[in-house]
Amino acid sequence: MSGGLFITLEGGDGVGKSTQAALLEGWLTEQGRTVVRTREPGGTAAGVEIREIVLHHRGDIAPRAEALLYAADRAHHIATVVRPALARGEVVVQDRYIDSSVAYQGAGRVLDAEQIRDLSLWAAEGLVPDLTILLDLDEEAARARLDTSRTRYDRLEAERSDFHARVRSAYLRLADDEPDRFLVVDASRPVEEIAAEIRDRLAARV
Ligand code: TYD
Repeated sequence: MSGGLFITLEGGDGVGKSTQAALLEGWLTEQGRTVVRTREPGGTAAGVEIREIVLHHRGDIAPRAEALLYAADRAHHIATVVRPALARGEVVVQDRYIDSSVAYQGAGRVLDAEQIRDLSLWAAEGLVPDLTILLDLDEEAARARLDTSRTRYDRLEAERSDFHARVRSAYLRLADDEPDRFLVVDASRPVEEIAAEIRDRLAARV
């Protein structure tokens, strides 16, 4: 049992991040760790309000404004939830983080990826995850899963397929650039197999 551990889950919409986050939380708890499971956007009370704007606002939001809203949510969340938990030696299992901004606002909205990363790092005062699990699924399979689970789409989910294709490639490039931080899993495999692969990767560190 060591110090705090910061684990993030990433991937397109509908790839099964929440299912894996729940399974991971259960396993870590069995191992005797205290787990904080959280998400961006919306991991704080202020963040819930930002989430409502950024995902459900009815009109357009300029791409840079969208990037700043995610960064504002992140700044408050990291300062008030994530850093305190890590300082207590807990494990933070977080749905989406900086890589989401680089993939969605960088590649999806076609803003400068490096600027987006710098903005996010500024917001989070440089906090980088110990492990990032990328659940990779082709766009058609992800869309099919979303169609069965959603009654309405949020602003990002409603984007066209070329947007989601750019997001997926951006994620894969990020993982290629930082193989030590990333674990890429094929999200078309059975849920239990994916969970086992994640546990294997973490076993040494927990
Ligand atoms: P999320 O709540 O994870 O939705 P889902 O369960 O559908 O994956 O994320 C909401 C949306 O916000 C998702 O479409 C990705 C997008 N997003 C960004 O565009 N940039 C970001 O920095 C974050 C954190 C999320």
